[in-house]
Amino acid sequence: MNIVNSTKITGYCLVTGSSRGIGKAIALEWASKGVPIIAVANDMKALTTLKSEIESTYGVDCLTINKDLLKLESPREIYDWCIIYDKKVQVLINNVGLGASGSFEETQTDFDLSLVQLNIFPMLQLTKLFLPMLKTFKKSYVLNMSSLGGYGPVPYKAIYTASKAFVYSFSKAISLELKCDNVQVSVSCPAGVYTNSEVVERINAGGIIARWTSLNVTTVAHYVVLAMLKGKKMIIPGVGAKLLMIFMRIVPETLNSLIVGGIMKKTKSEA
Ligand SMILES: NC(=O)c1ccc[n+]([C@@H]2O[C@H](COP(=O)([O-])OP(=O)(O)OC[C@H]3O[C@@H](n4cnc5c(N)ncnc54)[C@H](OP(=O)(O)O)[C@@H]3O)[C@@H](O)[C@H]2O)c1
Repeated sequence: MNIVNSTKITGYCLVTGSSRGIGKAIALEWASKGVPIIAVANDMKALTTLKSEIESTYGVDCLTINKDLLKLESPREIYDWCIIYDKKVQVLINNVGLGASGSFEETQTDFDLSLVQLNIFPMLQLTKLFLPMLKTFKKSYVLNMSSLGGYGPVPYKAIYTASKAFVYSFSKAISLELKCDNVQVSVSCPAGVYTNSEVVERINAGGIIARWTSLNVTTVAHYVVLAMLKGKKMIIPGVGAKLLMIFMRIVPETLNSLIVGGIMKKTKSEA
């Protein structure tokens, strides 16, 4: 049985950070299942390319919204746009995020604040704004993009992993709050995903464990969307990442942080 048909997705899937990387791949994956897309990002040219690709390949609408999600007013403007044009969002993908590795002492405060802001605020604001709309469907979906690094403290990735721990904790908490509603809240915790040259460099520098647990972006998107449709609340793409998660659970936090921190120390940056 086609899972999408059986769950009756008639509304739009809104994806933040969908001009490239994981967000783009997730938008393409939902579109391949016949779900129309609202793609949000900064780069209008890349969004226009995505729109053509989706509309010509899958024959579904791809609407584009050009917004800087670092601006606090952007989520409200996106929501208002959906109301004005009567676009009902049934699937909300809070994917947008900024990454960084390196010693906490060495990063600029402005960058630190932008990272925390981008990784947390659009997710909070969009989820809050769209919840009443999501609740009008018999079944709807929210996916928040955390990271395996959000599962515990990681030296040399301190702010990034702390922000992803927020995403993880928030998602788990509201998933329980919404247990009796028709809104399924899932959180995804990928290990490395080959999205851009900086990430590829970081994964390669991270050594065998980083390479073994990393996946290409299409595999991750396929896995995430299928898991959402199967009702999974916690989505860890790939066997390697799952085993690493189990390892992180059973090994004492200090030892775990030392090992993962050792890998991170070797790397420079992550998307
Ligand atoms: N790659 C990994 O290894 C990995 C692993 C675990 C978790 N994650 C998480 O997965 C998510 C996506 O990562 P990725 O590797 O796909 O990132 P990416 O390749 O850098 O893509 C980021 C996306 O976010 C958009 N974006 C960035 N700043 C924005 C802003 N201020 N306003 C609006 N859009 C903005 C970018 O579009 P524009 O350029 O058009 O602004 C782009 O579409 C992030 O939350 C990341 O933390 C990634």
